[in-house]
Amino acid sequence: MKYQAINPQLYIDNRSRFAKKLKPGSIAVFNSNDIMPTGADGSMMFIQNTDIFYLCGIDQEESILVVFPDAKEEANREVLFLKETNEHIAVWEGHKYTKEEAMAASGIRKIYWMKDFSSVFNALMCEAENVYLNTNEHLRAVVEVQTRDARFVKFCKERYPLHSYKRSAPIMHELRAIKSKYEVEVMQKACDITEKGFRRLLGFVKPGIMEYEIEAELVHEFVRNRSRGFAYGPIVASGASACVLHYTDNNKECKAGDVILLDVAAEYANYASDLSRSLPVNGKFTVRQKAVYNAVLRVMRAAIKMLVPGNNIIDYHKVVGKIMEAELIELGLLNKNDVAKQNPDAPLYKKYYMHGTSHFLGLDVHDVGSRYRPFEAGMVFTCEPGIYIPEENLGIRLEDDILITENGPVNLMANIPIEADEIEKLMAD
Ligand code: GLY
Ligand code: MN
Ligand code: MN
Repeated sequence: MKYQAINPQLYIDNRSRFAKKLKPGSIAVFNSNDIMPTGADGSMMFIQNTDIFYLCGIDQEESILVVFPDAKEEANREVLFLKETNEHIAVWEGHKYTKEEAMAASGIRKIYWMKDFSSVFNALMCEAENVYLNTNEHLRAVVEVQTRDARFVKFCKERYPLHSYKRSAPIMHELRAIKSKYEVEVMQKACDITEKGFRRLLGFVKPGIMEYEIEAELVHEFVRNRSRGFAYGPIVASGASACVLHYTDNNKECKAGDVILLDVAAEYANYASDLSRSLPVNGKFTVRQKAVYNAVLRVMRAAIKMLVPGNNIIDYHKVVGKIMEAELIELGLLNKNDVAKQNPDAPLYKKYYMHGTSHFLGLDVHDVGSRYRPFEAGMVFTCEPGIYIPEENLGIRLEDDILITENGPVNLMANIPIEADEIEKLMAD
């Protein structure tokens, strides 16, 4: 891993919170992700399963975490199983956790090699009544491959059919929605690395540059600051491409007069940041581009003010929609009379602003958390309004990451330039 060691208290606290949510007599099992194959003997870069990482900080394939708060022997209450390293693995793949290192990273005292899993787990299951297993539950997840967690569900239910099975996912969603101070520190670091990448672009973007050259600048800056790279597929979309919401080709030339929509951010220690900015290719917005830009910025600032405890995302999105509607009328994109007659279930503003304003952010970019839960201190949301006008070859989105606190919203990206005039000035310097 490139990142610096994380305080293991984060994981100790997370496990303790998780354990308190289990029914008496329960054991819970979390698996790492697989290393995904490509072709021949190739494989994708390993990315840890975010739930096991959240609970123990172990960032390695072929790992299993068992949490069993009511185990008769105290030593069995938190147990980790790891891939046993050896000289061959050390030579071909490099370093893997020793037991001592895994203990230091996770705060777990009982560490076994994976070869002991069957017998140790079998003994623990003889003591357990309920088994909490992990499933990837996300409204928009479309997962066709079977994960290690999914394989384990199958194995466990076949081998131990008379235990009572429960889902860990609702508990994980509840816990992960609230970020601890350690997590906020790590997320701030991801945002700070993103800022470095963005600032680097201000002196780099000019007419004739290719979108992929911008992507390359960013990855250079992210990796040299201990990030693994982008937190999600980077969007570097100039001109009309900005109206393709999930554009990731990044293969066009940036032309004078166009605006580039950048939705690009670094991960750090498996935590995501999520940034969008829009830059004029030649360093100066046209009057029209600036008007649209400032409309988006006003919506964003009004929305951020509503990211406070007690509000909720459903009402929030409705209010943001009304604010956006007024801006679109002002820009001449919507007609006031048409809006007055619109079907409230299909508001006209969606023609130019068709996505949501905020999502949970954390270990996953579209992090887990319930949309029915009112905002609470410790939640981190993005705020990302946009206006997309294909007929003008123009799409503008602005996106910051906001921590909800009892004392009001805290913008983790407050230092990243956003005012149109400031962007122009920095591009001119
Ligand atoms: N970058 C993904 C998003 O903004 O939701
Ligand atoms: Mn984004
Ligand atoms: Mn986002």
